[in-house]
Amino acid sequence: MKFFIDTANLAEIQKVYKMGILSGVTTNPSLVAKEGVKFEDRIEQILQAVPEVESVSAEVTPDAVTAEQMIAQALELAKINNNDPKITIKLPMTLDGLEACRYLSKKGIKTNVTLIFTVNQALLAARAGATYVSPFLGRLDDISEDGVQLVTKVAELFRVHNLDTQIIAASVRHPDHVTRVALAGAHIATIPFKVIEQIAKHPLTDQGIAKFAADWQNAVK
Ligand code: E4P
Repeated sequence: MKFFIDTANLAEIQKVYKMGILSGVTTNPSLVAKEGVKFEDRIEQILQAVPEVESVSAEVTPDAVTAEQMIAQALELAKINNNDPKITIKLPMTLDGLEACRYLSKKGIKTNVTLIFTVNQALLAARAGATYVSPFLGRLDDISEDGVQLVTKVAELFRVHNLDTQIIAASVRHPDHVTRVALAGAHIATIPFKVIEQIAKHPLTDQGIAKFAADWQNAVK
């Protein structure tokens, strides 16, 4: 399973990119709004900050509701950073979103159909030509449904029907989500910076470092 980072914060993206584990970035209107920056500018900055990843998701804005509006916006986003091939247009899972997905995939523009909450939605998006689908684990868990189970089923369905759409496990809230979606067959997990820190850490690692430092100090004396 590959790692994407789920943020529009440049410092976080740069930090994780330098670690060499990053395959992509996902953003959404809430994440961009939090940064207080112009949407297109931030997407350009992200594209330039991560030259060696496969995908940077830019979501059509909430005022683009019809397929025509989404396509018009997507075609502008696709021009950013000299038609950067990493740009991936994130589209909501609606009938118009599917229409836009079909149009853009025929044009060779990468797409990520987001806000997926059922297996059927994932299947529709894959059939519309989506490069990626994003099932939202945490938000399902929030309403007492099993988000990981959804990823398991989508992975099985894509395998059975030989669909090459990649599954991005999204709305990841904690380290256990990461392990479980990897085992469930997600191709990618998009993870907030805080969770990347959490999965890198272990109290025994910290204790071990402290003990080595103390022993080293004693030996030097
Ligand atoms: C994914 O692409 C979304 O941006 C994101 O994972 C949503 O996560 P949330 O449910 O924590 O807002």
